[in-house]
Amino acid sequence: MNHDQPKDRIHLTVHEGDRITPVLASRGDTLLSALRAKGFGITAPCGGNGTCGKCRVRIVGGPPLPPPDALEHRLLGAHAAEGERLACRIRLEGDLEIALPRHGTAVIVTDGWLPSAALEPLAVAEEIALPPPALGDQRPDDRRFFDETGCSVPPGLLRELPLRLRRDGFRIGYVYRSDNRDVIRFLAPGEAASVRMLGMAADIGTTTLAAYLLDLRTGQRLATASALNPQRTFGADVISRIEHAESRTEHLDELQRSVTAALGSLAGDLVREAGVSADDLVCLTLAGNTTMMHLLAGLPPGAISRAPFAPASCDALTVEARFLGIPEPVRPDALCVLMPSISGYVGADIVAGILATGLHESGDRNRILVDIGTNGEIVLASGDRMYACSTAAGPAFEGANIHCGMGGVTGAIDKVRLERNHDGTAVLWTAIGQDRPRGLCGSGIVDTMAMLLEAGVVDDTGAFADDPSALPPELAARVVEYERWKAFVLVPADEAAHRSPVLFTEKDVREIQNAKAAVRGGIERLMQKAGLRPDQVSELLIAGGFGSFLNIDSAFRIGLLPEALRGRTRPVGNTAGAGAMMALLDARLPVEALRWMDRVEYVELSADPAFMDLYIDAMMFPEA
Ligand code: FES
Repeated sequence: MNHDQPKDRIHLTVHEGDRITPVLASRGDTLLSALRAKGFGITAPCGGNGTCGKCRVRIVGGPPLPPPDALEHRLLGAHAAEGERLACRIRLEGDLEIALPRHGTAVIVTDGWLPSAALEPLAVAEEIALPPPALGDQRPDDRRFFDETGCSVPPGLLRELPLRLRRDGFRIGYVYRSDNRDVIRFLAPGEAASVRMLGMAADIGTTTLAAYLLDLRTGQRLATASALNPQRTFGADVISRIEHAESRTEHLDELQRSVTAALGSLAGDLVREAGVSADDLVCLTLAGNTTMMHLLAGLPPGAISRAPFAPASCDALTVEARFLGIPEPVRPDALCVLMPSISGYVGADIVAGILATGLHESGDRNRILVDIGTNGEIVLASGDRMYACSTAAGPAFEGANIHCGMGGVTGAIDKVRLERNHDGTAVLWTAIGQDRPRGLCGSGIVDTMAMLLEAGVVDDTGAFADDPSALPPELAARVVEYERWKAFVLVPADEAAHRSPVLFTEKDVREIQNAKAAVRGGIERLMQKAGLRPDQVSELLIAGGFGSFLNIDSAFRIGLLPEALRGRTRPVGNTAGAGAMMALLDARLPVEALRWMDRVEYVELSADPAFMDLYIDAMMFPEA
């Protein structure tokens, strides 16, 4: 089929709030791929496989579409009656007018406390007056410069050197790399002392991106910015992204472009907020999981998803922004440091987290760092050893496989609790931004699970109560049949406002059981590996956005964390961002990491019978 023929063109009209965008698409494409191609950030956790039910759009106009099949109907639930359809299941055969759901504003943890680090950045500005040539000193300019500064001039800057030297009386400023003393760029006389040396550290999460602007001379943090990872439209988890990257040659470039464009845009946000010039942004330090690092570097990630899970590279990499394709306002010659990873599933974000928490320097203390995101990565430090693993927690804690799950955006229920008083039993919740509730984010999901256990709606096996009438009447009235599942109605439907109910189904309980058992089993397996009892563990640190919002009591109530560590558990915020900032201020840290990473023993859980036993044990919920 020739897609360039006008008859193969489809005109889409896309409504996003008040904005209306005309889009040209190709006949036969899915609506999801047409929207992706034009950069619409449509949520597609299953990567377009038609199984998650999250890529919902509302059909506003156009010729009638074939009705949804049974699967689509089931995934849409009550939303089908509201005119919604799944974008990945619509093949474009005629012009269409659609409305995208309101996404709300993401709440992304950017606290990234600034840990102390020596000021030894990768880019340094200096100035020198060179002795001018003479009949008795005919050294070439680049040799003269090298002899006096110890810095080499790369071929791309050679042409500039003689012109500047002769124009400015052999006084010249220069910015150079502190690791290999290569010149990055030349400056006018007087500029080296006054130029602002800025750096950006970024945590590239599977779901969210967080970025920080730092003054490399003072270590001061000037601005923070965040965004949803635009790659989420290709799937919620790393496996869907890898599958997309492998499905066509150009898809790897597409994924790389999508994240580098977001980094460029975050850099723009940062310099605007700080009121500084992007021209002074000389270094970037980037940390993410191993798949995110591969996609950023344009490396094929496929082998990460297949046994024996060997990545293309785990090394630290320093390249210019132009090599990655990070667009303006980032200068093409800005240095980008990609932090090293430990294995295919313990990435640079965890290396940054170890740096930020000083886990590698724990001395006599036995400490555990847990980062629960789309995967659950765990590191245990004991003596001079460290043990690391990654559990396939799935994206349930990010709302992806949960019927009413959603990201931490406005409208997501983030806190749930039960209140019992003389008037009866009430289910209380709060939603982000005090917006009308549309679903549940991770912390709301864990709270809901804890509340259902506490109220006796769900028992320790994960089954809904056989006889809801034995529950307090306020709770019994909320237990309903939904599709073929039992479900608990957290927020009833609002017929007048065409709002579906916010439900938590039996299937959601199963998802949470699997996810929490994977994390809990991983923690216990590493303790076992290190020969530690829970009472010998000094502290359990919970990293990441989920950890920051998580109600720790609820996490213990559902058995996500071992009860014996209650009282020694604390959230530590975005350690990946904090570690990336440390590495930005002290360029020696990523290199040193390559040395202490040798002390990390990676424990592959997928083929570990001891882990399977712990995982199965952890499927049960703790009894009241
Ligand atoms: Fe369409 Fe998952 S159902 S992306």
